[in-house]
Amino acid sequence: MQLFLDTANVDEIREIASWGVLSGVTTNPSLIASEGRDFREVINEICGLVDGPISAEVISEDRAGMLREARESAEWHPNIVIKIPMGSEGLAAVSILEKEGIRCNVTLIFSAAQGYMAALAGASFVSPFVGRLDDIGTPGIQVVADLAEMFDLHGLPTRIIAASIRHPQHVEQAALAGAHIATVPTAVVRKLVKHPLTDIGIEKFLSDWRKM
Ligand code: E4P
Repeated sequence: MQLFLDTANVDEIREIASWGVLSGVTTNPSLIASEGRDFREVINEICGLVDGPISAEVISEDRAGMLREARESAEWHPNIVIKIPMGSEGLAAVSILEKEGIRCNVTLIFSAAQGYMAALAGASFVSPFVGRLDDIGTPGIQVVADLAEMFDLHGLPTRIIAASIRHPQHVEQAALAGAHIATVPTAVVRKLVKHPLTDIGIEKFLSDWRKM
């Protein structure tokens, strides 16, 4: 399972990319807005930091607007993947864009049925939102597991991005459920590295060494 960073903060992306663990980045309108910077400028900067799929989301609600935004953003860099919200207008846009060679990531997936429809429309990626399902008392990871089994059973090439990841256990569960990618906020990526026994072990090794 590959690791994507779920942020629009270029300093965070630069730092985590330097660890050699990143394969891509996902953004969304909320993440872009929280940076208070120009959309195109941020996306282009991210493309210069990570050599992998970079998701840039459309904000139009109709297919004509989605197509216009997607075609424009796709021109900025070959690694740009157009993120399109789930829905009939979104699916229509995805089916046209994928035929034009523009890769799409269908976002806001909350059921295996939605993921299946996105795969039929030809989406390169689907993003089931694990944490937001957990929030309403539905085990989000089950959607990832169902999609992984479904795509495998029927030979559907769409890649599953486990999204809305809230803690390290979600990352472990997503990998075991068969997600191809997990897109993870920076704070959770930092936690993936840490364990108190590692810190205690390092301290012990160093204090023993100093006694020599
Ligand atoms: C997916 O690509 C989204 O950007 C993201 O995972 C949304 O998660 P949230 O529930 O933390 O907003």
